[in-house]
Amino acid sequence: MNKIALGVTSSISIFKAADIIRLFQKEDLTVQVIMTDRATNFIQPEFFTALSGQPTIVKLFDQKKHPIEHITLAAEISLLLIAPATANIIAKLASGLADDFLSTFYLAVKSPVLIAPAMNEAMFLHPQTQANIKKLRDLGVAFVEPESGYLACGQQGSGRLASPEKIVQISLRLIRQQPVFKDKLIVVTAGPTREALDPIRFLSNRSSGKMGYELAREAYERGAEVVLISGPVELPPPAGIKVEKVISAEDMRQAVLKYYDRASVVIMSAAVSDFKFSQTSQEKIKKEDLPSAIKLDRTPDILEELGRLKRGQLLVGFAAETSEPKVRAQEKMKRKKLDLMVVNDVSRHDIGFESDDNEVYLLWPDGRERLIGKTSKKKVSREILTEIGAMVNGRKGNN
Ligand code: CTP
Repeated sequence: MNKIALGVTSSISIFKAADIIRLFQKEDLTVQVIMTDRATNFIQPEFFTALSGQPTIVKLFDQKKHPIEHITLAAEISLLLIAPATANIIAKLASGLADDFLSTFYLAVKSPVLIAPAMNEAMFLHPQTQANIKKLRDLGVAFVEPESGYLACGQQGSGRLASPEKIVQISLRLIRQQPVFKDKLIVVTAGPTREALDPIRFLSNRSSGKMGYELAREAYERGAEVVLISGPVELPPPAGIKVEKVISAEDMRQAVLKYYDRASVVIMSAAVSDFKFSQTSQEKIKKEDLPSAIKLDRTPDILEELGRLKRGQLLVGFAAETSEPKVRAQEKMKRKKLDLMVVNDVSRHDIGFESDDNEVYLLWPDGRERLIGKTSKKKVSREILTEIGAMVNGRKGNN
């Protein structure tokens, strides 16, 4: 089912519902908006009708429509999200009161329900509201915690609607989670590492981190616990995911090892620098003091070490090659004891690096291979996670 019901209630943050609709549409999901009567004081239903392409529902009994629309719609959706949700709607749902379309619909829905509250801090923290939230949580309703910041009432505090990105990310996880990823820790590394020469200068690799961030997002949506270990990149941290920021290859190594025992899968999509300076200066090196040669050392090969220490974890490596990509990648897969190798041909300029698109070969230790033709990094990460899911299920690997 590709339809979401979005309940919208009378909060000043109602305008953020427009971004929520847009983000769902980017995921090829249809959004059916349901407004409470009071929400129409802020925005006309036609606004959401135009955005969503579906007639907004407000009234319980609309003569022009099916008389029991709340029942038919309940069977068509994969999630009921209420964002923004006022104290009033939370209280109504907690007590089972059904006096308008949204509250009646809630009782008819069998799919997951997610509520994103938005209200003044005192109202949110009031023991009555908290008791209502607890009651709904106990009944299996999920919540997106409001954030702290400036509120419409001019005060600062908790009660601000969570960001549309976070709300949608958590919604997607509720819809897309798969049993195979439940209680599994997936560690993803992303971006480049930087090896310092002095406080100003460093040696690094080309990498935007986009592929790794998409993989982390995808793993999170499928229900895994995700730790994203990221080198310096320009990307915002993905909502809901624990991010560990690192700089050097050694920092990345230590961060990965910290989680390795508990991890089911490690996806090393980071472009780890292979070299570091033999000596790092604490002071900026002056031009006049530039030596005629600068000595480099090898950085630790994180993936090779993970291969040596492996006890049942699934290891996924990335290879960036400029010639004979598959042959070289096969060799690396053997040497590093990987279960899956993702191969990029970096001699091509239309894919990889800073681009939003990629084309990769997937290689397995048993000689199997698969081409994922040029598509968005989001779609590539979706395919990779599908393959990882199948491998975790079948427990096939290079142990
Ligand atoms: N990798 C790593 N630690 C390093 C270098 C690379 O863990 N110090 C990981 C990368 O994250 C990637 C894989 O190893 O998943 C392959 O990286 P690549 O640089 O292509 O391979 P190398 O083994 O470094 O081989 P070479 O540079 O000689 O091609």
